[in-house]
Amino acid sequence: MVSSVHEDKVSEPELKSPIQSTTSTSGHLGKRKRGREEGNGSSRTPKPLPRVERTNTLPIADFIEAYVPRSSLEFTIPVSQSSVNDTTAKTTTGEKPATTSETYTLEIHSAASIPPADFQACFNLIELTSSNDYGNSSIGWSPSKKRKEMKLPDMRYMVLKKQDESKPETTSSVESAKGDGTAPPGKDIALGFLSFMVTYEDGKEVIYCYEIHLAPAMQGKGVGKRMMDLYEEIGRRVGLEKAMLTVFKANAVASKFYERLGYEVDEYSPQPRKLRNGTIKEPDYVILSKPLNVVKPQTNPDAE
Ligand SMILES: CC(C)(COP(=O)(O)OP(=O)(O)OC[C@H]1O[C@@H](n2cnc3c(N)ncnc32)[C@H](O)[C@@H]1OP(=O)(O)O)[C@@H](O)C(=O)NCCC(=O)NCCS
Repeated sequence: MVSSVHEDKVSEPELKSPIQSTTSTSGHLGKRKRGREEGNGSSRTPKPLPRVERTNTLPIADFIEAYVPRSSLEFTIPVSQSSVNDTTAKTTTGEKPATTSETYTLEIHSAASIPPADFQACFNLIELTSSNDYGNSSIGWSPSKKRKEMKLPDMRYMVLKKQDESKPETTSSVESAKGDGTAPPGKDIALGFLSFMVTYEDGKEVIYCYEIHLAPAMQGKGVGKRMMDLYEEIGRRVGLEKAMLTVFKANAVASKFYERLGYEVDEYSPQPRKLRNGTIKEPDYVILSKPLNVVKPQTNPDAE
């Protein structure tokens, strides 16, 4: 995707004015403006952490407990028998092939808790679906930079797996979704993922989608929409203003997908630049966003 554009920001701290995070886990640099400035330390009573830092200090199990609707972590997709087994599905009577369904799960992890095999599968998906777009852009494709970005301490993952029918029900998605290492490691392979971060962008509290990639066999079945819905719902529950992402202009499918989901060009999306020789350089990518319409609790002016 696109995120390396965002990564670009991460990798150019000298161009930005990063403010050191207030949390031990938020060590990354590089947003243009890190929203909140810290106090001068003179106050005796420590102020509660701001929302973004507070969210990012949560262990992954607590993050899931607080912000992830459990009902979204397991879903089924109808599959027609013809797509499962062509030879058995063809009928001579002209009947419609029977439909069955497959169950999928979404596991939530942090950069620290994601099992190495899933991390590798996620990386492979990016390489498969988007390394060409990177390579053809001014950013270029760098596996090492991408891995570094994927390991940023505040990065969280939503990993798509096919439910292993052989597993007993008690160890299903919801348990493994905890991502705290207590669930038995599955043999199943990640079929897609969405990575995201609760962060600041231009002083606003946002949820930023770094990557969304599905294996080719999983595309066009409504799974991407489902994952984006969950991503936005997490942002809403955390209380963030908007959902953001970056997309290469060359990725027409993804651009259409985001348009269908209601994303629009963000006010901070880069503008074309006029070079010294007078030519206009169009950016390779656009930044898109969608307001989350979070209803903030009214503060009572009479309080205090
Ligand atoms: C982009 C991607 C995440 C979309 O996920 P998906 O599961 O295939 O999309 P969905 O089936 O949920 O489609 C949701 C909507 O997007 C639209 N859409 C999806 N694929 C589309 C396509 N190829 N052309 C036009 N519209 C498309 C659909 O019209 C659908 O809207 P509808 O419900 O009104 O029909 C997925 O195709 C993918 O992983 N692509 C490769 C990696 C990639 O490019 N990632 C994005 C990087 S920025």
